[in-house]
Amino acid sequence: MKEGKLLIRNISQLVTCSGFAAKKGREMSDLGIIEDGAVAIDNGRITHVGPTEEVVSQLEDYYPEIDARGKALLPGFVDSHTHFVFGGYREEEFSWRLRGDSYMSIMERGGGIVNTMKATRGSSFDALYAAARPRLDEFLQMGVTTVEGKSGYGLDLETEALQLQVMAALRKDHPIDIVSTYLGPHAVPPEFAGRTDAFIDFLIREALPNIHPDWQVSFCDIFCEKGVFSIEQSERFLQAAREQGFALKLHADEIVPLGGAELAARLKATSADHLLHASDEGIRQMAENDVVATLLPLTAFSLKEPYARGREMIDAGCAVALASDLNPGSCFSSSIPMLIAIACIYMKLSPEETVTALTLNGAAALGRADRIGSIDVGKQADMILLQYPSYKFLPYHFGMNIVDTVIKRGEVLSSINH
Ligand code: NIG
Ligand code: FE
Repeated sequence: MKEGKLLIRNISQLVTCSGFAAKKGREMSDLGIIEDGAVAIDNGRITHVGPTEEVVSQLEDYYPEIDARGKALLPGFVDSHTHFVFGGYREEEFSWRLRGDSYMSIMERGGGIVNTMKATRGSSFDALYAAARPRLDEFLQMGVTTVEGKSGYGLDLETEALQLQVMAALRKDHPIDIVSTYLGPHAVPPEFAGRTDAFIDFLIREALPNIHPDWQVSFCDIFCEKGVFSIEQSERFLQAAREQGFALKLHADEIVPLGGAELAARLKATSADHLLHASDEGIRQMAENDVVATLLPLTAFSLKEPYARGREMIDAGCAVALASDLNPGSCFSSSIPMLIAIACIYMKLSPEETVTALTLNGAAALGRADRIGSIDVGKQADMILLQYPSYKFLPYHFGMNIVDTVIKRGEVLSSINH
């Protein structure tokens, strides 16, 4: 079906997630549900939302229809933290971790991010593109209609640019929306070994000013972690990034409590991500300063680390988002079904909070809550139909992909699980 008019009617449960900004704390439980609902779309945008009878009575022209009896309709999922463009794999390191080696010990002996850096520096544009593209197909099949992607496996000017160019090309070629983040300070490359401050200087002086507008980079990010980039180094880089017009993200408090959440609050970053070891004070400050707390349960699972304190963050009034963190090292999975199961079963988020975290709050973590992340009049028509009549089946039918149909900018892309 081509872009144009579309009416989805008799939706058993229309889960609007209605809102134009992040939902914080208790607001996350409000999904704005309409029973027997309908949505009308024109030219990629949502024009009507309401009970079926009401919407149908307002439509004057002919609309092609989808009968969604027995199905729930949700906003498309927004995966706001991934590293989907990279060369090579690290299956050997995964086996080492299963034997007991830690993520940081592998990094310290030259593996980890630098291992992927070598493979990425050795890859052509075509090879990176060919590897990344099917990852986007997988996201879409699981209902993700917008995905963030980070650079960070070049750690030099050329290869970082290459990763961002691959994302720019995929933005044109693939139906999924891609939000790009520059993550030059992901690790210290071998040519700057022992000279971390000089590397930060280099990024500020040489890399940031050379990020080309055509690559449409929205965010800058840094791996703020003990033994990688300190609080001071992170602050210096992020301030410079802000001066160049970028919005800010941080990999914060992932391995040890370093004060990354507090730094994010001080800088009023759009999001702080990971947060496994965020302090009580850091959580309080994120809530106060409207920093989206982006939690990545698949990474904690893969690293066998305790999950971030999502329940406490919501109770403290934070806006929590959930994302996959797909990457070749700490988390080689983008399984949204598994993420939902962990969030509800182990992190004590309710199904309602989990849905908000994957839709409107994911959009807010990308600065796009005004355009996507909910089913509201005026927003981009990115939506998913489930095989079942309620969103409650998402955690209940755990580990299973129950996405039936993906609608992207008003276009029916796929009826997946038939
Ligand atoms: O978000 N922690 C830092 N960065 C990634 C892992 C990158 C890698 O191991 O390749 C993360 O977990
Ligand atoms: Fe990450």
